[in-house]
Amino acid sequence: MAIVGVDRVVFGVESMKKAQQFYTDFGLKKIKSSPKHSIYEASNKSRVEIFPRTAKHLPPAFEKGSTIRILVWGVDTRDNLKALKADLARDHEITEDEDGTFYVTDPVGLCLGFRVSRRINVKPVIIPMNGPENVHRVDERAIYYDRAKPVGIGHIVFNVPDLKAMENFYRKRLGFHLTDRYTGRGVFLRSAIRAGHHQVFFLHDDAPGLNHLAFAVRDVSEMIGGGQYMQKNGWETAVGPGRHIVSSCYFWYVQSPVGAPNEYFCDEDFCTENWKPKSYDPHPDTFAEWFLTGLPKGKRLPPTRTKKDVTEAKGRVSRVKAARKQSEVRG
Ligand SMILES: [Fe+2]
Repeated sequence: MAIVGVDRVVFGVESMKKAQQFYTDFGLKKIKSSPKHSIYEASNKSRVEIFPRTAKHLPPAFEKGSTIRILVWGVDTRDNLKALKADLARDHEITEDEDGTFYVTDPVGLCLGFRVSRRINVKPVIIPMNGPENVHRVDERAIYYDRAKPVGIGHIVFNVPDLKAMENFYRKRLGFHLTDRYTGRGVFLRSAIRAGHHQVFFLHDDAPGLNHLAFAVRDVSEMIGGGQYMQKNGWETAVGPGRHIVSSCYFWYVQSPVGAPNEYFCDEDFCTENWKPKSYDPHPDTFAEWFLTGLPKGKRLPPTRTKKDVTEAKGRVSRVKAARKQSEVRG
């Protein structure tokens, strides 16, 4: 094992005030807040940092407006960090911070950092559920959430013009493993052979961009509590609550002022060496088993879909219909 997950995400934003309010409402702990630099932390100490978009020390943005400027991956040991650095130094320019974080530019043009992870293990909250003939909670009331307090950053998703280049870089150079695919459109990767379904997901699109950033919460109740609290405070739901087919996660995506939706999720598949990767049709309908709000039919696409998915899906449907007609004629 080497990379354990996202340690730190740095945004350059149009409005510091809106971004500060967003992460306060989202349930992260405020570590620092000023007009020039703010830090917010999840329970496992993975962090979001925000700077004004025009801050001179930030690396270049790969898209216009508010967006991610640095993604820092946490590595399990000092030795593995050293080995990763030696390998990347063969064909990448490396810069280094005083604290030992080193940086390279990835194939899509984003500044990637690596450091010994500062994430901590958070004591799990065991919430037993009762069902018919299946009783686990006795003489005890359920836990209710009026808002969320995310455990940590779970995954990050990017739109990329060269899917293969990103998959190769993450699998061959950073040691990620293939979990699942959207045929010709996306790749879900996990940082270790035994890990949650994905820590990064790349989606093919014409231009690079941040698609969304996702935070793990304890269970569906906390996810609903968080989503409702965001709604009450005026943050628009992108889509949710709902449940994905790929990864099995329950989700709630909220529009944000940092350039892309932020997501609460829970109950993702956990994969080992026995997991069998599968390739799914990227049609918008495979985005979710169900969802309650957002995406009125025909008006908007799910966050992980592009217009191509609709066009190509229509193409597939008409090809199937034509083939059926042919066989009926023949029959
Ligand atoms: Fe997600």
